[in-house]
Amino acid sequence: MGAGFFISKSVGIVAIVLALGAVATIIALSVVYAQEKNKVSEPVAPSTTTTTATTTTTTAAPDNLWNRWRLPTTLKPQSYEVTLRPFLKPNENQMYIFTGNSTVVFICEEPTDIILIHSNKLNYTMQGNFHTSLQAVDGSSPPAITKTWLETTTQYLVVQLGAQLQKGHYYKLFSIFTGELADDLAGFYRSEYMDGTETKVVATTQMQAADARKAFPCFDEPAMKANFTVTIIHPTDHKAISNMPPKSTRQQQIDGESWNVTEFLTTPKMSTYLLAFIVSQFDSIENTSGNVLIRIWGRPQAIAEGQGSYALQVTGPILNFFERHYNTAYPLPKSDQVGLPDFNAGAMENWGLVTYRENSLLYDNVYSSIGNKERVVTVIAHELAHQWFGNLVTLRWWNDLWLNEGFASYVEYLGADSAEPSWRIKDLMVLNEMYAVMATDALASSHPLSFSEEEINTPAQISEVFDSIAYSKGASVLRMLSDFLTEDIFKEGLQSYLHTFAYGNTVYTDLWTHLQMAVNKHGVSLPGSIDRIMDRWTLQMGFPVVTVNTLDGSISQKHFLLDPTSKVDRPSSFNYTWIIPVAWRTSSSADKKYWLEGVSATNQEFKVSSPNWLLLNLGVSGYFRVNYNPENWDELLNQLSRNHTVIPVINRAQIIDDAFNLARAKYLGVTVALNTTRFLSKETEYMPWQAALNSLAYFELMFDRSEVFGAMTKYIQKQVTPLFQHYENVTKNWTTIPDGLMDQYNEINAISTACSYGISECQQLATAFLNDWQKNPSINPIPPNLRSAIYCSAVATGGETTWDFIWQRFRNATVVSEADKLRSALACSTEPWILNRYLQYTIDPNKIRKQDATSTINSIARNVVGQPLAWDFIRSNWKMLYSQYGGGSFSFSRLISSVTQRFSTEFELQQLEQFKADNQDVGFGSGTRALEQALERTRANINWVNENKQAVLAWFQGETGSS
Ligand SMILES: *[C@@H]1O[C@H](CO)[C@@H](O)[C@H](O)[C@H]1NC(C)=O
Ligand SMILES: *[C@@H]1O[C@H](CO)[C@@H](O)[C@H](O)[C@H]1NC(C)=O
Ligand SMILES: *[C@@H]1O[C@H](CO)[C@@H](O)[C@H](O)[C@H]1NC(C)=O
Ligand SMILES: *[C@@H]1O[C@H](CO)[C@@H](O)[C@H](O)[C@H]1NC(C)=O
Ligand SMILES: [Zn+2]
Repeated sequence: MGAGFFISKSVGIVAIVLALGAVATIIALSVVYAQEKNKVSEPVAPSTTTTTATTTTTTAAPDNLWNRWRLPTTLKPQSYEVTLRPFLKPNENQMYIFTGNSTVVFICEEPTDIILIHSNKLNYTMQGNFHTSLQAVDGSSPPAITKTWLETTTQYLVVQLGAQLQKGHYYKLFSIFTGELADDLAGFYRSEYMDGTETKVVATTQMQAADARKAFPCFDEPAMKANFTVTIIHPTDHKAISNMPPKSTRQQQIDGESWNVTEFLTTPKMSTYLLAFIVSQFDSIENTSGNVLIRIWGRPQAIAEGQGSYALQVTGPILNFFERHYNTAYPLPKSDQVGLPDFNAGAMENWGLVTYRENSLLYDNVYSSIGNKERVVTVIAHELAHQWFGNLVTLRWWNDLWLNEGFASYVEYLGADSAEPSWRIKDLMVLNEMYAVMATDALASSHPLSFSEEEINTPAQISEVFDSIAYSKGASVLRMLSDFLTEDIFKEGLQSYLHTFAYGNTVYTDLWTHLQMAVNKHGVSLPGSIDRIMDRWTLQMGFPVVTVNTLDGSISQKHFLLDPTSKVDRPSSFNYTWIIPVAWRTSSSADKKYWLEGVSATNQEFKVSSPNWLLLNLGVSGYFRVNYNPENWDELLNQLSRNHTVIPVINRAQIIDDAFNLARAKYLGVTVALNTTRFLSKETEYMPWQAALNSLAYFELMFDRSEVFGAMTKYIQKQVTPLFQHYENVTKNWTTIPDGLMDQYNEINAISTACSYGISECQQLATAFLNDWQKNPSINPIPPNLRSAIYCSAVATGGETTWDFIWQRFRNATVVSEADKLRSALACSTEPWILNRYLQYTIDPNKIRKQDATSTINSIARNVVGQPLAWDFIRSNWKMLYSQYGGGSFSFSRLISSVTQRFSTEFELQQLEQFKADNQDVGFGSGTRALEQALERTRANINWVNENKQAVLAWFQGETGSS
């Protein structure tokens, strides 16, 4: 599945600026992760046998084949013929349904008298006494069926036979069934959108991971590849598309109505989770790349407005890039990509028919920001990368998901770079994947990339493996591997892997084997086999901090834990040591490579003395953090202040991010970390600024209500003013857009930081923009990139009139991304009465849609003025909120964590404990865990503030000459 399945990637940079910052991100991620882990502990017990009304009794001995989660290896599917007919209008019971029938041809590999085939929530039309009928393909008579029943827990249709199927013989199983076309975003499901005043229904699919069995009975495991021939019966005014192009369409009278019957060409051998079919009134635009037809589909209005153009423009180049990268032609005759109004993941790589959330495929030139554009091109590259890696060659089982998703999350940057070469987007991996996931992976509760096949069985366990470790750590570790092998050797091994296993299945070590072959052929020198090196990174959780001492040349490694007091209770056969590729240089040497194998070593070349410095992990190609002796930190900081451009831009970001994280883990004093931000007054590059803003966001939360904030504000003003002026010049007084992606992002950083830290020139700019807009509300003069920041500043400094104007714009907005920007800016007011009124609006569905209520309250709580109001609001309305929004919703736990994110005093801790005691009778539902974490985090914040406040205050005062 696409990026953003487990945690949505920040769309637009303001979201990042406003995000909680390094430490708070750590907490947020650990909350997500903890919830994911929590789910693991509650899989449905496999021993309970549930049978449906039509079945006879079954004996529930736990070792019955049908009580096991995994299919036996006795039978192997060859091909399916599936016919489905979705009804896009409700039936007499107000239910949306589909009907269907399917034939599967399978071969018997071991004699057996039981057929198990996955089936979930399907109702069968009985054939005689049985759910299904069996034939032998050679025309002989097959064993008689003696009993059939449905196992709802393990999701099987079970067929018991009077005699054994014979090894090497082919059989055919035929079933007729109906299913619900529910709006549950799983299997064959229903999505709706408004076309003018008319509600339109789309029938679409999401099979990954285990929901193809909800559309038709199938051997629903990724290794059970087969050829599929899909036929869709659809209304004559609705188009049907599937993985393959249509073979034929004919009109047919069914039950006295005219229907179209579209049969699609047979697919190559593929896994069930990659099937897709969509019946809709969507429109499309198209072009071709070589012989491949490329189409972009969406709501007719969105397509008419040109929102598919950008996707169409980049798809061909990205497909070409991957054809060269894999040295393999695109395996199918066409590539469809569809933007759906209701979609759970960010996107899904169905073979030849990729599905997306609208915001991940469609791009609006007028309303969308550069962040929206980056998301579109990276998600497209991610899904297209899977068309070969994942779809053509598929991992055997979900335990190896990290290789599939980590790989796609890595090469999405390469594919996006080929479409937008001027963006330098590959560098962003360091911030977006590596530093983001290190926050989670530095916790004692993290887990290794790799699971054993036996660990992952139930659908719940399968969905657990789709987490940030699989995606972002997987990507970071593969990037490191590609870097130390060199990209050419990595590509050669990859190509040989794809050629060898096309249309088949693998385990992750198969990739290592083919990379090793390329290594051996070219004689690359490594400290051991790829297995030996990579096992350390895949089989144990976490990552090292590498410490080097330039006085004596010593270098050592240690498992990096963000909370140094946490206890690691997961054993590792490598004792948490790694084989580490270290790229390094000194101020006077060229770039060099070093391998750190043991816990510690000495390398005379690491000895440098003032004014020289040593810099480790060049380009941040390695998945680890770096610490130095104090003298070398000083020299690096001196270099940054003398001439920061001598140090590569990614490493400037690294120095900041490592220092703040090392300070958090008590390897380094907080003032050294703060010192890494001093050179920013001369920095115009995005990555170092973003690393600093991420890190300082936590300081803002902890101190924006204390005397520290006065000095901190002066310091940030001093640092950001030159950046603001830089962009004022570059953009000719904000009339043009900077060229590069990073420049555009940093322009947004400059404005949002300058305005929110009270640089009056910035606030006046925002007010002027808004005045222009108010004069002529039908033309928004604000560049889309800057809207979030400008709206927020104008609302913060303006009064009731400005608020009401933005509120009216919000009420009239027709583009969702624009409405979201306006809604979140409304929370920037500094008037308590306005914020309280806005809080009241959040519980009036006529004003704020229910789905947006919690995120609106969250934005109010992020505002220092709004935070106590939101906390009071939640405390006094708890019972109502709980009953209205409580049950099972994820944003509910976000609500608790966001209103408590600033808590850092004993008094607030008491309030929180009181809140918990007062509402024991009502409960906290899905926020229960978040509440416990809020208590724990508040205690941690109290300690952190106690330990650091004086030093931080003195440092800011020293930097700004205030006291
Ligand atoms: C329905 O079938 C007719 C006859 O083959 C064809 O002309 C028409 O384009 C089809 N409609 C759709 C929406 O596929
Ligand atoms: C089944 O798939 C294979 C590729 O795996 C392909 O060569 C073959 O032609 C397909 N069978 C049919 C009937 O299309
Ligand atoms: C700073 O370093 C860069 C890169 O080494 C160099 O090109 C530039 O001239 C230096 N600037 C100054 C002011 O020394
Ligand atoms: C931070 O930088 C200042 C100015 O260079 C220096 O005086 C101070 O010693 C540094 N503090 C630490 C802890 O390195
Ligand atoms: Zn993916």
